[in-house]
Amino acid sequence: MTTDQNRVLIFDTTLRDGEQSPGATMSHDEKLEIAGLLDEMGVDIIEAGFPIASEGDFAAVSEIAKNAANSTICGLARANFKDIDRAWEAVKHAKSPRIHTFIGTSPQHRAIPNLTMDEMADRIHETVTHARNLCDNIQWSPMDATRTEWDYLARTVEIAIKAGATTINIPDTCGYTAPVESADLIRRLIAEVPGADEIIFATHCHNDLGMATANSLAAVAGGARQIECTINGLGERAGNTALEEVVMAMKVRHDIMPYTTGIDSTKIMHLSRRVATVSGFNVQPNKAIVGKNAFAHESGIHQDGMLKSADTFEIMRPEDVGLTETNIVMGKHSGRAALRSKLKDLGYDMADNQLNDLFVRFKALADRKKEVFDDDLIALVTDAGSDGEGHLEVKFLRVICGTEAPQSADLTLRVGNDDMQATAQGDGPVDAAFNAVKALYPNEAVLQLYQVSAVTEGMDAQATVTVRVAEDGRIATGQSADTDTVVASVKAYVNALNRLIVRREKTGGDVKEVSYKDVG
Ligand code: KIV
Ligand code: ZN
Repeated sequence: MTTDQNRVLIFDTTLRDGEQSPGATMSHDEKLEIAGLLDEMGVDIIEAGFPIASEGDFAAVSEIAKNAANSTICGLARANFKDIDRAWEAVKHAKSPRIHTFIGTSPQHRAIPNLTMDEMADRIHETVTHARNLCDNIQWSPMDATRTEWDYLARTVEIAIKAGATTINIPDTCGYTAPVESADLIRRLIAEVPGADEIIFATHCHNDLGMATANSLAAVAGGARQIECTINGLGERAGNTALEEVVMAMKVRHDIMPYTTGIDSTKIMHLSRRVATVSGFNVQPNKAIVGKNAFAHESGIHQDGMLKSADTFEIMRPEDVGLTETNIVMGKHSGRAALRSKLKDLGYDMADNQLNDLFVRFKALADRKKEVFDDDLIALVTDAGSDGEGHLEVKFLRVICGTEAPQSADLTLRVGNDDMQATAQGDGPVDAAFNAVKALYPNEAVLQLYQVSAVTEGMDAQATVTVRVAEDGRIATGQSADTDTVVASVKAYVNALNRLIVRREKTGGDVKEVSYKDVG
């Protein structure tokens, strides 16, 4: 029987720890959209950002705090008053605000601020007390807890509890722990630290050894009642515990993990796709729960197995994670109503003007493709709004390519209000087209990532191209989809440059250079 004691809080940090991974920077509007979806999905606590990091982070956390209907909104702060005050300023308008403050307690992390153990203990007492005087809901984390000496960890946790922390998060910052140890650590802290039974323990696991989800679930078995996670496991290095994995594991194996969450799992797939798109981090096809092949038996061996019994190959139903299986085949004869209904199934409620714009693009695609699959439509929706709204817009492109070099590109680009034309050569059609963009819009941005993936099957599949560029510490990612890979590439590149321009204008000199590891 499930009791309240078995309720596990879901703390989503896609917008803070996830966004922190190099290249995953999201725009202000994208952060608001993702926060809205997390709130709707039933996430208990949204860590919306690191308000001291930049004006942009502060603005996003403040607005998310004002908009949140149900979720608690949390802002991250290092162990100093300035960070904590800034975090409070950002979250204080939320219906339910939280400040999350942390310091690295392991020997490796203590070396950075150059504090003795006693000095650090004093710092924890002062900063948690200060935070608690501002806000009733305080989370404290000993960063790199799993590599911290037991005595010191227990001592600092006790200090934080006495100073007023209401949640103690035990981070496995470097993805170093293993399930048995993860469970034991929480169990021992609850048993031995005075006051531990009055607060909630959280688990925050990184995936360096591929054990993040297992470690988080083990921590819950040990007594933790808050899991920190991100959509698609987004995060630095190998990422974080994936929200969809812990939620579905507790649902499907409720017999051995009798815990409940407030998450509406049918929203998972849509969130996963949106996060993949806005972060530019594609989901690997074989990723648990949300990968393209996670329910592949639906189309292959399925025909035989499913006829006998649905559970031959299924431990969960695609619908449970919001994967709709409709039989409407979209093609060039499909009308606006069918498009609207199909998009609704896929989780997109479109306003009339958005639908009109999309319908034109859908018809153009349907003319080029025999069948338009769900993924094609998602690519179209997520691409809508990214073309034609920025400073730069691709108006015309023709490339000459083949076995005979040089390859060349003829490009017309709108730059501001002017249509400009250039022809450039390069090492292959994409290089030639990018050179043409550079000729018309000279820039110092360095190409960090160029990734092509087919979103559907067949020779006429749409290609989704992701391009990441960096300039003066600012990183921007652009994406585009088209049946022509070179067109998708140039549009993705131009989208990334448009985002860089916006970021440059918004931040001025305020580049995101505050490191969360820099606890000064
Ligand atoms: O991984 C980590 O230790 C963190 C802390 C800021 C909680 O993200
Ligand atoms: Zn982390």
